[in-house]
Amino acid sequence: MKVNAWNEWDPLRHIIVGRADGTVVQAAEPAVYRDWPQDGFPQGTWGPLPDDMVARANEQLDNFAESLRRRGVTVDRPQPLDFSQPVATPEWTQDSQFGCMPVRDVLITVGNEILEATMSYRSRWFEYLCYRPLLESYFHADQDMRWEAAPKPRLTDASFRAGFWPEYESLPDDEKLDRVRRNELLLTEAEPLFDAADVARFGKDLFVQLSLVTNQSGVRWLRQHFPSHRVHPVTFGNTHPLHIDATWVPLRPGLVLHCSERPADPEMLQYFKINDWEVVPAAPPQKTYETLPPLCFCSPWLSINVLSIDERTVCVEASETRQMELLDRLGFEVLPVPFWDVAPFGGGLNCATVDVYREGTCEDYFPKRHGRF
Ligand code: ARG
Repeated sequence: MKVNAWNEWDPLRHIIVGRADGTVVQAAEPAVYRDWPQDGFPQGTWGPLPDDMVARANEQLDNFAESLRRRGVTVDRPQPLDFSQPVATPEWTQDSQFGCMPVRDVLITVGNEILEATMSYRSRWFEYLCYRPLLESYFHADQDMRWEAAPKPRLTDASFRAGFWPEYESLPDDEKLDRVRRNELLLTEAEPLFDAADVARFGKDLFVQLSLVTNQSGVRWLRQHFPSHRVHPVTFGNTHPLHIDATWVPLRPGLVLHCSERPADPEMLQYFKINDWEVVPAAPPQKTYETLPPLCFCSPWLSINVLSIDERTVCVEASETRQMELLDRLGFEVLPVPFWDVAPFGGGLNCATVDVYREGTCEDYFPKRHGRF
């Protein structure tokens, strides 16, 4: 076995698919505010997601894993912890952990390297342990694998803007968007912080979304860590930026799918244009905020959180018919995968996975420079 992946679309051979077991609605912490009184979790309460929801999500995850295996892809699964345990460092304690469904948030493969992200929630501090049995086995099996971990963050109160949530939620949208553009959000710059799911891989170019979980120091750390890449910090017109993979989704060289409700900045669009990339607005999602599953902290735009098997074949959530039709028109073979029961556990088909091996090499898809890009 080998570790290798440079982009989001090369032919997929080996992947990790997350598990729903034991996932917890997190206890409050500086980074996380939850208030779901109608679903049994009013503000200040926390605890495991209901067993029937876990069973339905695991069924969809197992079915997804099986359909990838049928396509010849090797599928590995993480080892869940008891996420209802408290977590502590010498500097703080936190009443609960979270889960290990969204693998994408924690790990990123770049070439022969798998990098563990810092993460920025206290409840997710130890999530990497769920993946350590796999990482250890990859490390022993592939003598060329580079195994890296970004600096473990302290996540003291100094890493978070005090009183962020109530203040931010009281702002009108245009002021929120202004704060998003300036990345004056939840995180301070006390230490580098990023989630792996804020990175989109396009060969030599890595686009990193500044978000509620990724700060500028995190992008600087990534730039220094990947000196032969071009690492670009980017923002979108999204009041709650959290992971780039339901916003800016590369499908093949020259084609990116874009959540039309979250405009990209003009300089970024121009960079794509002059390098002959087409930016296609995604179809409207089938779900609305009102019809999302309970306890879901994602948006209806999980509709574009797709997983590419190669540059002609893409897995899409099975009820997202408008999105499937659009991809069909763009020339893709679409594999429908039922997945909405997984959403409350932290995301869609892309979130639930990390590619360990895709055939291919590092290519430069952006030969022309533009502005800060
Ligand atoms: N925050 C995104 C949205 O709701 C969902 C992306 C989740 N991605 C992930 N890797 N967990 O639009």
